[in-house]
Amino acid sequence: MSQWTPDSWKNYPALQMPEYPDLAKLQKVERRLSELPPLVFAGEVRALTGQLGAVSRGEAFLLQGGDCAESFAEFSAVNIRDTFKVLLQMAAVLTFGASLPVVKVGRLAGQFAKPRSSATEMRDGVELPTYRGDIINSNEFTLEARTPDPERMLAVYHQATSTLNLLRAFAQGGLASLEQVHAWNLDFVKATPEAEHYQQMAERIDEALSFMRACGVMAENSPSIRETSFYTSHEALLLPYEEALTRRDSLTGDWYDCSSHMLWIGDRTRQPEGAHVEFIRGVHNPIGIKAGPELDPQDLIRLLDCLNPENTAGRATIIVRMGADVVEESMPRLVRAVEREGRNVVWSCDPMHGNTITAGDYKTRDVNSVLREVRSFFAIHRAEGTYAGGVHFEMTGQNVTECIGGTHKVTEETLKERYHTHCDPRMNASQSLEMAFLIADTLKQCRKFQMN
Ligand code: PEP
Ligand code: CO
Repeated sequence: MSQWTPDSWKNYPALQMPEYPDLAKLQKVERRLSELPPLVFAGEVRALTGQLGAVSRGEAFLLQGGDCAESFAEFSAVNIRDTFKVLLQMAAVLTFGASLPVVKVGRLAGQFAKPRSSATEMRDGVELPTYRGDIINSNEFTLEARTPDPERMLAVYHQATSTLNLLRAFAQGGLASLEQVHAWNLDFVKATPEAEHYQQMAERIDEALSFMRACGVMAENSPSIRETSFYTSHEALLLPYEEALTRRDSLTGDWYDCSSHMLWIGDRTRQPEGAHVEFIRGVHNPIGIKAGPELDPQDLIRLLDCLNPENTAGRATIIVRMGADVVEESMPRLVRAVEREGRNVVWSCDPMHGNTITAGDYKTRDVNSVLREVRSFFAIHRAEGTYAGGVHFEMTGQNVTECIGGTHKVTEETLKERYHTHCDPRMNASQSLEMAFLIADTLKQCRKFQMN
């Protein structure tokens, strides 16, 4: 394999990349970004690799979730806080249900660039470049708005910085303390069956905490009660941004993409000979590989050869996103190939991207299909004797109506009430909680099954 450098991806075909009309401006922004401080540190990234290694051995569970696309318009402390709270609730449900540590990774603080199925969009006879996420252009249907502007990368960098700052404060400053387990419930969810279910569980956690306090273990003296580890992730799609934030760690001399703790390559950009694979092979972050129904088992093994030649546990997470109707047919051959070759991977289930449908003017997902894919994912692992290690959701703490179904029913008719996403439909807080309870039950059953 040829020599890797942070810009060696430029020698390979890069799909889904914007065409910047002003190359001088692009270079100026790249230079500026490369001088700015890293967003995350190599030591944190290594800690995440270690925790994902535990997931790959079946000793922990991965919960990854957040927006499909972050945006400039929806950037606020309240939105970050509420998504963080829902993730904490889901993690509490999973930890409590499965008696397993949960590794929490947000699709946050950098999840801005979107792969699109066509390069242009046509409206009333006018053809313009498609919207590719706020890091590239703006959604408004004018030529000016749709023209890629490199300055947007700097705006994303600054938004990611303050998002991370807030997340670190939430994770370590008291909000994530287990003693706050009741306070994570969001007001608008309170009247739902999930909230009641959650409240009952929170009371049992409180009881356990009182018992521990009486034994001398409490928030004041135990960081594991008082705070949590929370990591960030996004799709490594816009390579000039990723390259500019790639830095050499002074301790080990290894390269890390310091835009985020974890990065993944999307289903559309994982060609073994492509620029995205070339870029990501050289950075030492834990990486995700999206696996759609077309992924050939041989190609998956080639990807693992290239991206994880030392078979390091925690380096590679395979994020399966097949669709509820095809997962049973298309996933087992991947699991078998990975097992046959003895590769250490985390298997995670993204039940969102294979289940997108259109209802009238809206892109949506039916929570029932999402659930069906999660169930099949667990069933397949059980049948193959492998470990279903995690889940990957598009969700938000906002009270949106973007996915249909769930016990607190959103219907095709009510979709329009609060449809705010900048890209794909997200589950709202009560749909996310419902999902977490279901997964916790499944995990509990799997563990009983493993122990017998
Ligand atoms: C995504 O995760 O937002 C995404 C575009 O996924 P995929 O590459 O699996 O389609
Ligand atoms: Co999406």
